[in-house]
Amino acid sequence: MSLNKKEYFYITTPIYYINDEPHIGHFYCTTAADILARYHRLIGDEVYFVTGTDENSQKTLQAAEKAGIDPKEFTNSMAKKWEETWKKLNLSFDYFVRTTAPEHRKSVEKLLIKCNEKGDIYKKEYEGWYCVGCEKFLTESELVDGKCPVHKTKPDWIKEENYFFRLSKYEKELLDLLNNKKFALPDSRKNEMLEFIKQGLQDISISRATVKWGIPLPIDKSQVVYVWFDALINYLTALGYYNDDEKMKKFWQNAIHLVGKDIFRFHTIMWPAMLLSAGLTPPKQVFGHGFFTINGEKISKSLGNAIDPVQLAEKYGVDAIRYFIMREIPFGKDSDFSTERLEQRYKGDLADDLGNLLNRSLNMVIKYRNGEIPEPDLSELTELEENANKLVYTIEERYKNFEYSQMLESIWEYIKSINKYIDTMKPWELNKKQENKKLDFVLYNIMQSLKIIALFIYPIMPQTANKIYKQIGSEKDIETENYLTAVKWGSLTPKTKVNKGEVLFAKIE
Ligand code: MSP
Repeated sequence: MSLNKKEYFYITTPIYYINDEPHIGHFYCTTAADILARYHRLIGDEVYFVTGTDENSQKTLQAAEKAGIDPKEFTNSMAKKWEETWKKLNLSFDYFVRTTAPEHRKSVEKLLIKCNEKGDIYKKEYEGWYCVGCEKFLTESELVDGKCPVHKTKPDWIKEENYFFRLSKYEKELLDLLNNKKFALPDSRKNEMLEFIKQGLQDISISRATVKWGIPLPIDKSQVVYVWFDALINYLTALGYYNDDEKMKKFWQNAIHLVGKDIFRFHTIMWPAMLLSAGLTPPKQVFGHGFFTINGEKISKSLGNAIDPVQLAEKYGVDAIRYFIMREIPFGKDSDFSTERLEQRYKGDLADDLGNLLNRSLNMVIKYRNGEIPEPDLSELTELEENANKLVYTIEERYKNFEYSQMLESIWEYIKSINKYIDTMKPWELNKKQENKKLDFVLYNIMQSLKIIALFIYPIMPQTANKIYKQIGSEKDIETENYLTAVKWGSLTPKTKVNKGEVLFAKIE
């Protein structure tokens, strides 16, 4: 249990193709990873959180040509754009990995040579349909009316001599790995992978003879490494695999990859096989989340329907967007992105349930106790205290299972119960009747539960959580707290002054 013992967590997102600009779908995955990273840092684990860009794709070259820019210049400016966008959106990654960096090339060379030494690479004449959009070969049966079902374009017929990786050799090990309960989640997607393997694995082409953009194959410099073989290795580059960095020892065995369902197969079949071949262990977990659609349609540049997370954040605040995307859809499921639903949640869950709770609570402390947290007699156990104690463990369990939406639901039930507590205890009547001891007790409980709420929501809404913390009188930032001590009932210091500030979720015009 990581609440009781410090653990290491290596948390990654896919590295994104840079022909496109960051949209809400990319933001979704990066946010989910950020939330997990923040939670584990908060409870005292050591976290390394990595995101980055996949730059050796043919799509990069095509986009650079289209823009009339030198591809190197193009990759530099697009990678910068992605990194800056994530920073602007308060994503707390520790390292930004780029596949055109020299360190990455060294990692790819190192791993590929190991696979070759193992006898897992061989040369063969190959022909097939290749979709540049997907960056993969498609089988005849995958085509719909001769086109790629995802990109709706006719793939290229490629015939060349390639180097192949003996994926088929790893069938049994992959089956065992996937049968391990926790490796690939959710179960429905894991079962699809098991079915896929049971139909028999084919060896895969891992180099291209005609493509010039990419990392030269270390065993035959006339070819370049297939972009997926190259891209997956980013997860090792970020840990300094190329020069045996200490981080490899500390973090690799604790790797958690969050990816979209579209690339789950690459991560649960091809990637572990590559690692096993190179003498490394597979990642600890891969989670394949669902997709956003816009009015039922795929988000794409060509359809012009991509939602810009920066623009959304400017209007609603980044925390509200984070809350919405994680609350609205159970992680793993698909859903339409609806601005109407976003506004409903903004007003209902955020402004009314949470914002208003803080506001009315502070007002009572100011009005009845001169803005000072009262000194209570805490010998009586309340439901608020009991439920907060339970929630600490429920939340931990939810994170373990990637149940973000259900976790938020439980936290919001708790928030609603504090509102109910106020309505039942009626502090205004206690004040009128001068029942001072009881009033101290009730006001303290309300403020203590707000402190706990701030800690609970911190990973999802870090700025909001710190605002609550400041307003209830804390001088510390949540990042510097000892979580288990801070969530304990009684942790709120009596006699501190509250510090009422701006409302948490202002009305959206
Ligand atoms: N470059 C590869 C990944 C290599 S990882 C070693 C790639 N890049 S991508 O830019 O196409 O983005 C991949 C990820 O972005 C998806 O796996 C998914 O996590 C996220 N999403 C892209 N569009 C999305 C939606 N419409 N909805 C939710 N997530 C989406 O594939």
